[in-house]
Amino acid sequence: MHEIERWSGPFPAEMRHRAVDALEAGLVLFFPRLPFRLGEKEQALLNPAVADGKAKNVSLDPKTGSVKGAAPGADCAGLQTMLERFASQATQLVSELFPSYVSGLEKARTSYRPVEIEGRSYSPLKDDKLLHVDAFPSTPTHGRRILRLFCNIAPEGHPRVWRVGEPFQDFARKFLPSLPRPNPVAAWFFAAVGATKTRRSPYDQYMLALHDGAKRDTTYQKGAPQVEIDFPPGTTWLCYTDQVLHAALAGRFALEQTFHIELQSMIDAARSPLRVLENLAGRSLAN
Ligand code: SIN
Ligand code: FE
Repeated sequence: MHEIERWSGPFPAEMRHRAVDALEAGLVLFFPRLPFRLGEKEQALLNPAVADGKAKNVSLDPKTGSVKGAAPGADCAGLQTMLERFASQATQLVSELFPSYVSGLEKARTSYRPVEIEGRSYSPLKDDKLLHVDAFPSTPTHGRRILRLFCNIAPEGHPRVWRVGEPFQDFARKFLPSLPRPNPVAAWFFAAVGATKTRRSPYDQYMLALHDGAKRDTTYQKGAPQVEIDFPPGTTWLCYTDQVLHAALAGRFALEQTFHIELQSMIDAARSPLRVLENLAGRSLAN
């Protein structure tokens, strides 16, 4: 979306329709002329040492407004101000570009990702350098969407490098037959012991199995259709990360805002992972 150079609208109807259609189709919307500008004092936050090292990200809790993951001695107030300003600009863009989402939109966590991705090592399931769709073990969604907006705020010369995979439907069709069947007793148990915030639906169990299955499958990781995309400093991008197969290979200093969107707010919910999986499984999966 080359045209967009500001975080606020109004955006012409034709542009809004094109944007929501591409988003729901599972594309990554790229805004090459939409930078998030840092103030002069904020330049000092471009330092990986602002994160405490245990958590790789600094984040802003949407409920309490508090900052987590900052190193002792880091400029916590400065981080909070930057994260809040980014969150409010991201929310403004999403609300004005997708006005039909507003009634079903929840602003979730905001994060700052200062640490270089390349060369970090993780266990496969935690490694976002491997293609995956987002699904979080402790936070069932029951089919609500996960929309994420990213900004590369690094100095020149440090693109954030992603790989984006095949359409969700093709991916799900390949993996579904080999996934364990959703297990209601396990879902009940994890909720009862407090391991999950709410009970995982069959959909959540399938999404976690898809996330894990893709990351564990080295043949898939090597052989699956995928394209590399470089997001240069000063650019913004946005996609449904529960739908778009993605891997982040390199980069430092990104800001990220997560939103949840009710399925009913989508223009065409048939393209959601929930409906695609329900079609393939031949049963309802949301509860
Ligand atoms: C991810 O969502 O897998 C990581 C994306 C990023 O940090 O660029
Ligand atoms: Fe991810």
